[in-house]
Amino acid sequence: MERWLPLLNTAIIGVSGIALLVGFYFIKRGNVAYHKRSMLTATGFAGLFLVVYGIRWALLGSKPFEGEGWVRTLYLGILLSHMALAVGIVPLVLLTLRRALRGEFSGHKRLARVTLPVWLYVVITGWIVYAFLYGIPFSGR
Ligand code: HEM
Repeated sequence: MERWLPLLNTAIIGVSGIALLVGFYFIKRGNVAYHKRSMLTATGFAGLFLVVYGIRWALLGSKPFEGEGWVRTLYLGILLSHMALAVGIVPLVLLTLRRALRGEFSGHKRLARVTLPVWLYVVITGWIVYAFLYGIPFSGR
């Protein structure tokens, strides 16, 4: 469980990230219905991520990074920016969604142009943090 639960979690972020990119592709092609579906899928998986993350944290706690020196500094920099933006993105996503669902599309579009890149940053750095902890040699495993 110590390995598959974090992997499951990272896979869930991955699905959410792919749904975001697909949703962006659809709105650029003018397909609002599919944009809506993709973005709701992305939000659903992000919510699922939070639940699984909570369970994982309760069961396993957090895993310390075992690398040292500049790799550790780099890891902590990425981790801190990831965590800060992961918290900040929650109200941003909800507001972006609310505007869209209320039909306030010009406000939705303005906000979404901030929400989307920040969300993608959180997804990508989530994968990087996972790679640091479980996948690359510096981690000491
Ligand atoms: C949190 C989830 C969502 C995100 C991150 C998001 C993201 C975006 C982005 C980045 C754009 C601008 C695309 C561009 O640059 O041209 C956009 C436009 C748009 N979105 Fe969303 N979207 C989300 C949810 C939704 C939902 C649920 C709907 C439901 C109807 C929707 C409807 C639209 C429409 C109609 C536009 C075009 C607005 C215009 O061009 O005036 N979006 N969205």
